[in-house]
Amino acid sequence: MIISSAKDYRAAAKAKVPPFLFHYADGGAYDEYTLRRNSEDLAQIALRQRILRNMSALNLETKLFNETLAMPVALAPVGLCGMYARRGEVQAASAADKKGIPFTLSTVSLCPIEEVAPAMKRPMWFQLYVLRDRGFMRNVLERAQAAGCSTLVFTVDMPVPGARYRDAHSGMSGPNAAMRRYLQSALYPQWAWDVGINGRPHDLGNISAYRGEPTKLEDYIGWLGNNFDPSISWRDLEWIRDFWKGPMVIKGILDPEDARDAVRFGADGIVVSNHGGRQLDGVLSSARALPAIADAVKGDLAILADGGVRSGLDVVRMIALGADTVLLGRAFLYALAAAGEAGVTNLLNLFEKEMRVAMTLTGARTIAEITRDSLVQAVSPMRPDALADAVANG
Ligand code: FNR
Ligand code: LAC
Repeated sequence: MIISSAKDYRAAAKAKVPPFLFHYADGGAYDEYTLRRNSEDLAQIALRQRILRNMSALNLETKLFNETLAMPVALAPVGLCGMYARRGEVQAASAADKKGIPFTLSTVSLCPIEEVAPAMKRPMWFQLYVLRDRGFMRNVLERAQAAGCSTLVFTVDMPVPGARYRDAHSGMSGPNAAMRRYLQSALYPQWAWDVGINGRPHDLGNISAYRGEPTKLEDYIGWLGNNFDPSISWRDLEWIRDFWKGPMVIKGILDPEDARDAVRFGADGIVVSNHGGRQLDGVLSSARALPAIADAVKGDLAILADGGVRSGLDVVRMIALGADTVLLGRAFLYALAAAGEAGVTNLLNLFEKEMRVAMTLTGARTIAEITRDSLVQAVSPMRPDALADAVANG
């Protein structure tokens, strides 16, 4: 299979891993409207082409929380990476590290903190979900700090898991799910041998380490619903902010009012995100939510954003809309599923090349020079529809 883009990695991933895993990665909530809009709205952002400006020297580096990033990209927290490639979190972390960008370990990873952090030279980022069992929180934060994690990404848009219709059909959840997954695995012998057998243990490593026994994955989606805490509020975050020594980022903000609350709370950053269209279908795409949020809080804290980013060109679009750094979710997961660490490395190299082309042809020599001015028409915060108008009017 010829690989020239994240899209190709998606096709390669589909051929490589059993359907229950492919659809868990690829799918979203309800009718997947927001999932589609994430990439479609981003694709509609029109860039201003500028020419003949001597673009021979570009600098893609950026600074974030006292870290230098080789490009303004980080790997998003993604649960269960270790089901997509053998000890997948370690492979993805290593690829990100060698490229000079952060890797974020999900709370619900297969590999525990202690297995992944040593695979990196730069400090790992850790993503926290709040479980009903609050003893887990202090335990996992202490372990993340002991392992040298720098940034804490606190995800707030999953007090309950969204309804993912595909998961019920694919065998990820639903009736006879374990049996269906087992039968599917037999049809993917390469995956079954590499990951299914040699990639064990298959449990939620961070939670097993706390509970002292394996947290099994038989009913993963059910487990999320039973163990995530819907009572979570800003007050719970105060304790964490005081306890955590490094930067704290709130992930899952779509509204300028919530972004202002994050500033008042003293967060160091936010991730403008709808969880990749996996939670509340029908909410704004990230590309449409971002400009108004940037107008509200740009400069007060770091603005990270994700959702639908499938190329280096999309990274440049997100930055022009107001993001400081862009997270990749599915794009890197597809590459990891298709080709492990080498796949993620190649994907990041492709993104870098695509960013260079976009910067060269929009006249931006540095990341700071990618601004609203790089867009065909400035986006009004009062009218999210201005984006659509900008496209319609050229
Ligand atoms: C996620 N995401 C996620 N977010 C998080 O904070 N903790 C997690 O454990 C997970 N797990 C997870 C699993 C899978 C399979 C996917 C696809 C996504 C959301 C992720 O961090 C990010 O917000 C989205 O993936 C961004 O959208 P794109 O880039 O996938 O379009
Ligand atoms: C998901 C969770 C684990 O989106 O974040 O599936």
